[in-house]
Amino acid sequence: MASNAQQSKHLLRNAVAGSGTPRPFARIIGFDPATDDLAALQLRRLRATLKHAYANNAHYRTAFDAEGLKPSDLATLADLSRFPFTTKADLRANYPFGFYSVPMDRIARIHASSGTTGKPTVVGYTQHDLDIWAMLIARSIAAAGGKPGMKVHIAYGYGLFTGGLGAHFGAERGGYTVIPMSGGQTEKQVQLILDFEPDIIMVTPSYMLTILDEFRRQGIDPASTALKIGIFGAEPWTDAMRREIETAFGIKAADIYGLSEIMGPGVASEYAADQNGPTIWEDHFLAEIVDPVTGAVLPDGEQGELCFTSLTKQAMPVIRYRTRDLTCLLPGTSSPFRRMGRIAGRSDDMLIIRGVNVFPTQIEEQLLRCTRLAPHFVVEISRPDRMDEVTIFVEPKPDCTVDEHSVEAKRLASFIKTSIGISSTVKVCAIGSLARSEGKAKRVRDLRSEQGAPGQPRVVG
Ligand code: DLL
Repeated sequence: MASNAQQSKHLLRNAVAGSGTPRPFARIIGFDPATDDLAALQLRRLRATLKHAYANNAHYRTAFDAEGLKPSDLATLADLSRFPFTTKADLRANYPFGFYSVPMDRIARIHASSGTTGKPTVVGYTQHDLDIWAMLIARSIAAAGGKPGMKVHIAYGYGLFTGGLGAHFGAERGGYTVIPMSGGQTEKQVQLILDFEPDIIMVTPSYMLTILDEFRRQGIDPASTALKIGIFGAEPWTDAMRREIETAFGIKAADIYGLSEIMGPGVASEYAADQNGPTIWEDHFLAEIVDPVTGAVLPDGEQGELCFTSLTKQAMPVIRYRTRDLTCLLPGTSSPFRRMGRIAGRSDDMLIIRGVNVFPTQIEEQLLRCTRLAPHFVVEISRPDRMDEVTIFVEPKPDCTVDEHSVEAKRLASFIKTSIGISSTVKVCAIGSLARSEGKAKRVRDLRSEQGAPGQPRVVG
């Protein structure tokens, strides 16, 4: 059996170059089920990850010590369930760089996603981490039907969001011609799709629908482009959206899943030939489904909260990270790796509004700064025209005159825009008109699913 380093090199080379054994799965994956033992590979990598995190990260050392556990207590993969979970709150408590397990001078790149208190969740990568990420994106594009030499139009947002740059370097690594368009400028998206003739587009599904509308507004047949494949993710989407996009553009659509804390896009991705949910790249990530309340590990097929442990990350290994995404694990079809079902929702109250992760408490924080407004509110999210619209209903305090209502509403909208980054319309309603909490406050009215979209679409990332 090859050493760990030799084997990673072998996996990387095969997956990147598309070389290796003639079996189609091995060609995409660089992992050959006929000769490679997945469980043995995972156990070896898991042991190394626990050792690395415990030795080099104060959070993990304290968390393991609190449970009286040492990395050497892991003898089998099942022993992982004895180790403590990691949550978004743990990451925030260590803002900005306290979760790194390597010295700062080995961090090659930083990304971040929005958080609950205005502070983003910060992640970091060594060059080796970036190489693995690129390889997994290349693998994901190949699973979607991509062939080196094709052109890839990337309309995920570039910047701290992992979508744009993650897709970019993976597509380059896979031997594709990259068009780094980023999100926004919808007219220009249409123009470049027509002029540069990309074969593949990587974008959020909701933004793809906006691009579709722009084609129609300009009177151009969307089926007339060179596009053959769409790789959509970063937000929940439905089979109805898949059908609409596929039919209008005449393309095959594949679902790509990921989250910044684990890596970014490409933790799991769908085989276009199957279209039955993203395959989890289990040689790099160990997935568990846990009961969101008790934390108990649930058997495959049962719905619960998805939890990930990284197996090859250097800069920021994550152990039993609670994604808050609700789904189930399913057997592999095109590969021996397991698949994940559609994300059925989240076990927290995080909303994804135009690419920004928003917690209702952030809105409450801003409302409390407006001393003439009462602390009752309802956030309504709708998609009248494929784009998320946010309306916040509030009540005035008794001393707030009717003349002052619009000033107060504008003040709150401006606080929300500058602190959270989303545009909203604030409506001041009559005192006592908003339903009062009878236990757990119901602050959110998400109308998007009734309007033909899944709960939480994201526009440009
Ligand atoms: O959204 C990474 C990404 C970029 C994935 C581009 C795919 C494509 P975050 O901003 O950290 O990272 O948000 C992660 O988005 O926990 C899910 O709730 C949701 N999400 C991501 N992909 C999917 C998907 C990126 N395919 C959060 N289906 C995750 C449903 C998804 N939800």
